[in-house]
Amino acid sequence: KKIAVLLGGLSAEREISLKTGTACLNALQQLGYQAVAIDAGHDLAQQLREQQIDIAFIALHGRFGEDGRVQGLLEMLEIPYTGSGVMASSVAIDKVATKKMLLYHELPTPGFDFVRPGDSTEALFERCKHLPLIVKPSREGSTIGITIARSREALRHGIDTAAALDGNVLVEDFIDGIELTVSVLSGQALPIIQIVPKGGFYDFHAKYTAGETEYLLPAPIDADCYLRIQQAAVSACETLGCRGAARVDFMLREREFYCIEVNTIPGMTETSLLPKAAAEAGIDFQHLVETILLDAGL
Ligand code: DAL
Ligand code: MG
Repeated sequence: KKIAVLLGGLSAEREISLKTGTACLNALQQLGYQAVAIDAGHDLAQQLREQQIDIAFIALHGRFGEDGRVQGLLEMLEIPYTGSGVMASSVAIDKVATKKMLLYHELPTPGFDFVRPGDSTEALFERCKHLPLIVKPSREGSTIGITIARSREALRHGIDTAAALDGNVLVEDFIDGIELTVSVLSGQALPIIQIVPKGGFYDFHAKYTAGETEYLLPAPIDADCYLRIQQAAVSACETLGCRGAARVDFMLREREFYCIEVNTIPGMTETSLLPKAAAEAGIDFQHLVETILLDAGL
C-alpha cells in the first residue's frame, strides 16, 4: 500500500507541519512502509489521484488540514486517513465550539466570551470587567495571534490582532496557574507533561526553540489531580469523537483544572510534546507513528 504523508499546507502553521511531516515520513520509511510526501496545496485532490495513493497520513496543522476540510476531501475520494474525522476535527479546531461541547459534558474550561464577524466589540468591552484576559483567534494553533491582555488597550489590540487571523475571536479568563498537557493515544492518556517556559509564556518561540522551555515529565502534581486530569483528557477526546492521537491542554490553579483546547493533530517536531509523552510511556517515535497509522483501521 502506498502512504502519502500530507504536509505543509495552507495554514499559518505550515512550517511546523513541514517538520512534523518530515519526521513522520522518515519514521514510516524506516519501518519499511512505501511512503511519499505530498505538499497539501490547492491541487491536493489531483496529486492524490495522480500518485495513486492508498492511505493518507495527515501531518497538517491548522486550517485546511486539522480542521476537517482535508478529511472531507479524502472521504469524497474514498482514501482512508489517519486521525480524527470531519466532525471532531472541525469542532476541535474551533476553540469556542470546543468549549461549548466541553461545558455541555461538564468538563471544566475557563470562563469566556467571543466576538464573531460583525459583532460590536464595544459591547464586549462592557461585558469584560475582569482583567487579565487571554485573547485568541478561535481557529489557530501554535499560539499564533494570542495576547494576554492586562489593560483595556491591550484587550482592544489583542482583539484586532486575533481578528486579523480569524473573524471569530475567543476572549477567555486568564488562569494564572501551571500549564499541563495530556496526550491521548488510541483512547488512552499518556503521562502528563508540565510546561515551564523560561520566558513565562509558552508562545511560538518557546514552543519551537530548543532550550526555551523546561518540560517536567511526568508532571509533579498530586496523584489524585493527575488521574482526574488524565480522565478529563480522555473524556474530552471521547466527547469530540477524536481518533488516533490528540493532545488536550490544561491549566491548573489551586487544584482546580481547566481544559483549554483539544489538538487533533499534535505537533511531532523535535521539541513537540506528544513524542515526549509517548517516550515516557515506552513508545518510541516509530512506534508512535505506526500506532497512529494503524488506528486509521488499516
Ligand atoms: N498546533 C501545534 C502543532 C500543536 O498543538 O502541537
Ligand atoms: Mg492548539
